[in-house]
Amino acid sequence: ANMQSDDLVSSLKTDLSKSCGTVRVLVGVTGSVAALKLPVLVSELLQLSGVDVRVITTEHAKHFYNPSDVSVKIYTDKDEWELWTDRSDPVLHIELRRWADLLIIAPLDANTLGKIASGICDNLLTCVVRAWDTSRPLLFCPAMNTAMWMHPITAQQVSRLKEFGYVEIPCISKKLVCGDEGSKGAMAEVSTIVSAVRQYLPKPDESQKT
Ligand SMILES: Cc1cc2nc3c(=O)[nH]c(=O)nc-3n(C[C@H](O)[C@H](O)[C@H](O)COP(=O)(O)O)c2cc1C
Repeated sequence: ANMQSDDLVSSLKTDLSKSCGTVRVLVGVTGSVAALKLPVLVSELLQLSGVDVRVITTEHAKHFYNPSDVSVKIYTDKDEWELWTDRSDPVLHIELRRWADLLIIAPLDANTLGKIASGICDNLLTCVVRAWDTSRPLLFCPAMNTAMWMHPITAQQVSRLKEFGYVEIPCISKKLVCGDEGSKGAMAEVSTIVSAVRQYLPKPDESQKT
């Protein structure tokens, strides 16, 4: 491996070093306007005690937030490919699935929903999903325009994901950024998402044992 990739490998090892008593939450973010909420979602998750957070972004999701507003490492498709130059190098999507105790995809857009439902894995996020250890929780928060939501393929794909054992955090009705009013498709509120994650954390008394 060359110098640059050695540096990348050692910084990955530092970033993904596991501290005990911590629940490691991986947040996947896709190209929906609801990705605007990434900074607040991450900061609210970090306020849960004993939670560590990393983010995986799709390329289109990057359009909606400013990475400097997010206080944890954000992994991109570029990281996946730059990290690997030599047989001994780690594969990022495998390292991330190993690191994480829980994956939450918020928002999950129509495109990535369709990809996950059919097993497509053409970027870092969908590779982590495809390689996911299904004994660990995977939560998803759909977010799309009402017309997209109403298309019959949406319900089919959402139920497919539920068959895989993934947990839906249902979308809600509200005035969407695109102007369509009062109809379904908006991402669940951040507070709802954080409460859903909290269900999977050890109860305070349990975490004091060991
Ligand atoms: C301004 C804008 C807002 C968008 N909002 C959504 C959305 O809320 N939900 C959705 O499913 N797609 C939305 N899209 C379309 C997705 O970004 C597009 O399907 C993209 O290919 C998704 O790529 P990704 O799944 O790899 O992130 C939006 C596109 C634009 C340009």
